[in-house]
Parts: sequence; C-alpha cells; structure tokens
Amino acid sequence: MADPMTASPGWWTLLSDPAFLADPYAELARRRQAGTVQRDPETGIHFVLGHRAFTRIAKAPQMGRDTRLWTGGWASPEYAAADPVGYDLLSQFQPQMINSDPPDHGRMRAVYEPAFRPQAVAALEAMVRAEAERLIAAMPAAGVVEMIAAFAGPLPLRVLRNLFEMPAEMDADIARWSAALIKVGDIMMTPEQKRGALDALTEFKAVLREHLAARRGCPHAGMMGSVLAAAETGTLNEEETLTNLVSMLIAGHETTVTLIGNGLLLLLRNPGEMARLRADRSLMRTAVEEFMRMEPGGNMILRIAREDMEVDGVTIPAGAPVLGLIGAVNRDPERFADPDRLDIGRTANAHLTFGGGIHFCVGAPLARLEAQVAFDMLLDRFPQLELAGAPQWRLDRINARGLGELPVRVGAAAS
Ligand code: HEM
Repeated sequence: MADPMTASPGWWTLLSDPAFLADPYAELARRRQAGTVQRDPETGIHFVLGHRAFTRIAKAPQMGRDTRLWTGGWASPEYAAADPVGYDLLSQFQPQMINSDPPDHGRMRAVYEPAFRPQAVAALEAMVRAEAERLIAAMPAAGVVEMIAAFAGPLPLRVLRNLFEMPAEMDADIARWSAALIKVGDIMMTPEQKRGALDALTEFKAVLREHLAARRGCPHAGMMGSVLAAAETGTLNEEETLTNLVSMLIAGHETTVTLIGNGLLLLLRNPGEMARLRADRSLMRTAVEEFMRMEPGGNMILRIAREDMEVDGVTIPAGAPVLGLIGAVNRDPERFADPDRLDIGRTANAHLTFGGGIHFCVGAPLARLEAQVAFDMLLDRFPQLELAGAPQWRLDRINARGLGELPVRVGAAAS
C-alpha cells in the first residue's frame, strides 16, 4: 500500500491545489517521467504530458470533441439526475463548433473562418492599435500601474466588442458575462457559479438575439456579417448561431488577457530578453510564440475518444476523456531544447497552446495580432518597465492559468 506521507496526490487533488496552480511546471516535469499518457483511476481521464503524444492525439480522427460521447459524462442519465443545473448548462453549451465533430464542426467553423483569414485580421490592426492607444494614454507617464485592470484585461474585451459590433456602453455587461461564463466546464464549478453562468448565458443570448435582429438588412461584412448570412440561409440554426457567438467571448477574451499578462510577466522576470525585444522588434513574432509556449494560459485541451487508440503504449478506449496538459507538453525536453528558458528568438516553436487538428484555434491570428500590438505599444510608450510587487495568480480555476494582478512600475527614460 502506498505510504500516505510520500504517495503523490491523485490528479484532481493536484490540479486544484493552490501551490500547484501557482507554479505547476516542476511537478508536471516530475510526473511526465512516469509516462507521457497516464490514466487517472479515479476519473478514467487520460492525462497527456508528452509533446509527441499530444500532437498525435490532437490531430487524430479517432479523437473527437463531442462531449456527449464521454462515457458516464455530463450527458449521461446519472449525471442529469444528480446535477440538473449542471446538465442544463452543459446541454445549452453543446451546439457549437468546439463541442462538435464532423460534419457539424466544419459547417459551423466555415462561418467564422473568413473573419480570421490573414487579410481580414490585418484589416483589424488599426482598430486594435486604437484601443491599445486609448488604454495606454490613460496610464501615468511614471508610477505603478496594475496592468491586468489597466491594459491586459480591457484590450481583448474591447476588441471583441468591436468584432461583435456592439457599442462601448456594453463593455461592463460583456465583462460580467465573460467572468460568469469562463467557469463553464471547470471541474471546480460550485452550484452558485453554475447558476450564475446559466443566468449570464440567458441574458447574453437575449441581447445577441436582439442585436442580430436589428442588423438584419445591414451590409454583410466582417464576422457579424458572416454570422447573419449563415442565420438567414439556415446554415446555422438559432441555437447554433447564438451559442457559437457566446463561445467567441469565452474563447477569445480571458485567453488573450492571459497571453498579454503572462507574457508581460515573463519579460519583467527576464530583463535581458525584454532589452533584446526592445532593441529588435523584428523578434516580436517569435517572442509572442515563446510567451505562449512558456505560459500557455489554457492548462488543458480536451478530446473524447471516438474509437480505441493506442498512444505511447497506452490504449485509450472509446468514450474516454483525454486532457492534454499543455504546461507539460510545451516544456517537453524531447521536443524543446532547454525548455524552461525563455528565448524570445526561439524558432520552430511547435507549442500546442492553440491546440491542433481541425479544432486548432480559429481566432489564433487575432490573438497573435493583439499580443504583438500590445507589447510593441507598451515598449514604445515606457522606456522602463519593472515589477512593482508580487504578481497574483488567479487560483480559482483549474483549466486556466492567468494573473489577477500584475503591478508594474512604469517610467520615462532617465534624462
Ligand atoms: C491567446 C489566446 C487564445 C488561446 C490560447 C486560444 C486557445 C484555443 C484552444 C486551445 C482551442 C481548442 C483547440 C483544440 O481543441 O485543438 C481554441 C479553439 C477556439 N478558439 Fe481560441 N484561443 C485564443 C484566442 C481566441 C480568440 C481571440 C478567438 C476569437 C475571437 C478564439 C476562438 C476560438 C474558437 C471559436 C475555437 C473553436 C475552434 C474549433 O472548434 O474549430 N480563440 N482556442
């Protein structure tokens, strides 16, 4: 029998442990040594810690995303009876691309893809810069700025609001819905949070329904134009239209806040790399990829096995859930040299922060643009940036790793 003083905690105990959430990497590296694919006997979930293994899994046709296929998962009669609110919430979230397998997945994704093609995203750059400029202009020239509230938080929210073609007066509501909805799918979700998420979902959907109705007859351009056209032609039914839009907020907001916040912390902790980036902005593209590799923000990526699949000697049976632990995958020494070192010039950076295969993040070009613009403008505005206190990691969720507070001393150049 295992000695309780020395045995490793089970996966769920570990994943919700505040000490682990604040600094997961050493423990993930330790556990990776026990196997790149590990089945948790408590839950039947297969955790994946190896880069090669998760690259295969993310792309494999045997691996789907339709969570209703999870044996004993939320769609089972037992779960519905035990947790009717949770069942209602997850049922309402089902009809969207991220929870769908082919052919429904491709039908829904095709509606959004044109809005995120390189040319379409390049056309958004002026808007992203204008929003970043407004936030930076509101900061003092010198002093301490809490960068999550002042910059990393509002920038992606405002970008999404513009994408939704909603007025700035909606920002507070959008922030409130995003905060309630981000918890969906988190194993740590309390009954109150489930109810809060259901309320936010109902409210946001009602606003979106009216918003779309008011736009009928408007020229069909941008993301909303594609969505309207799809709703009018019946490519998307009403539930799919609304749920996919709600999901854009969940998928595109906190993730990008985290990229900007975590990336800034990495630079503040590595002043040599910050100076290198300041001096050579042509490194911005690789720098942002390296931030995503080192601090992926999203801790886990889900698949549900549609058929049995063998990976690194482990057979994952049909109906089993699989979670790629991206913090482990992105620092696998088999794939990345010196994986714990920030190298903003790292090339061939095959991080899996945006996932892989048919579900690869459709918004990735926009997230990359936002981060590149954000860092470029911060470095331009402030010749000095230093940590001004302990950054606070948010410890209230297991599927995301982001900062609640990041105090930064900003300053003008010494004259
Ligand atoms: C740094 C920021 C972001 C990160 C880390 C991120 C990460 C991810 C990940 C891991 C997936 C699932 C991939 C998979 O299962 O293989 C995903 C899918 C998705 N993301 Fe993002 N995302 C980000 C920003 C955005 C933005 C800005 C948007 C839109 C405005 C967006 C929209 C989506 C959508 C719609 C999907 C579902 C795609 C599908 O199922 O085909 N994401 N994202």
